[in-house]
Amino acid sequence: MERTFLAIKPDGVQRGLVGEIIRRFETKGFTLVGLKFLKPSQELAEQHYAVHRQRPFFAGLVEFITSGPVVAMVWEGDGVIAAARKMIGATNPLTAEPGTIRGDLGINIGRNIIHGSDAPETAKSEIGLWFKEEELVNWQPHLTPWLHE
Ligand code: RTP
Ligand code: MG
Repeated sequence: MERTFLAIKPDGVQRGLVGEIIRRFETKGFTLVGLKFLKPSQELAEQHYAVHRQRPFFAGLVEFITSGPVVAMVWEGDGVIAAARKMIGATNPLTAEPGTIRGDLGINIGRNIIHGSDAPETAKSEIGLWFKEEELVNWQPHLTPWLHE
């Protein structure tokens, strides 16, 4: 079963959006299999955003993501990686479609509320970076027959 890594960034936590965001993925029908609340270390943030190391916004991005608590999550379901990216919306909340998390809840690219893995390989590496295998829970939600044919 496909899994993705999602993280509610410090702005989402500070703005009290944790419940709203988790609700969207729960009601969509995806399964939560990992959850932790932490203030990411410099090292973790730099590794997480390593692909952006050369970009001008890298230092500010790492500073922001380490500035406050983050809700790190692993969600499971068929097609969850691409679907979660769709539900999150475009990087810039001003141009993100209404109905998406960023489109509904944000206005600034540096305060775009939530991170989501962008492909199967990044999902795998980000899950491994943020979670130990034993921190992920394999479980079968009772709703499964009502969500899947
Ligand atoms: P994320 O990785 O956080 O899920 O966001 P994303 O895929 O939609 O966007 P990405 O290109 O991976 O950029 C990572 C984060 O860097 C910040 N950013 N700032 N000032 C800028 O031009 C700029 N570009 C990107 C955003 O916070 C973005 O989420
Ligand atoms: Mg990205």
